[in-house]
Amino acid sequence: MLVAPSILSANFGRLDEEIKAICGAGCDFVHVDVMDGHFVPNLTIGPVVVGAAAKVSSKPLDIHLMVENNTFFTELFAPLKPKYLSFHIEEEKHPHRLIQKIKSYSISPAIVLNPHSPLSSIEYILEEIDMVLLMSVNPGFGGQSFIPSSLKKAERLRKMIDSAGLKTLIEVDGGINDKNVYDLKNAGVDIVVAGNYVFGSPSYKNAIDSLRV
Ligand code: DX5
Ligand code: ZN
Repeated sequence: MLVAPSILSANFGRLDEEIKAICGAGCDFVHVDVMDGHFVPNLTIGPVVVGAAAKVSSKPLDIHLMVENNTFFTELFAPLKPKYLSFHIEEEKHPHRLIQKIKSYSISPAIVLNPHSPLSSIEYILEEIDMVLLMSVNPGFGGQSFIPSSLKKAERLRKMIDSAGLKTLIEVDGGINDKNVYDLKNAGVDIVVAGNYVFGSPSYKNAIDSLRV
């Protein structure tokens, strides 16, 4: 299992130290939650702060956009060269076009599905993306409880990807800890995002290691 701590639960007063700490503790990606106060009822950080974070990170960024205007935000964050740039399918009228735009910056495109969104909504563009991010909480806040139906969804997505002969990765985000990570592993998930679990732990290394099942 690959591990992407979400800096939403970090201490923003000393963000550089927090990022260095999770990178030093062996995370695989640094998950960055970008919220615009419109698509979700919360507001986080923009390219100035994320750019500063990128400078101190020794691990690739995994940027999760939770915004209304995906094209505008893609153009804002593309110069930071994240490994993944994820956008929500619920908020995009032209996902295929946006995917091509993200690829034009040599960034790996990913699509995010809210808990209610069906897998069928990405059936015909699955081959165009490198990762699917399944939300296992309603987006907007850290520290919420894992929604159990996310597990069945991950299992079905795994079958969908495998039967199409694709290499698309599955990432799951929200309410993940050292207990439910085993079920996610069995469901065929590749990457877990964890905010509160990692940053709320006295040892970031122990927390990250416990998710690497
Ligand atoms: C929620 C964010 C998540 C969140 C995860 O909108 O996308 O990345 O910070 O935090 P935990 O692990 O605390 O649920
Ligand atoms: Zn996220």
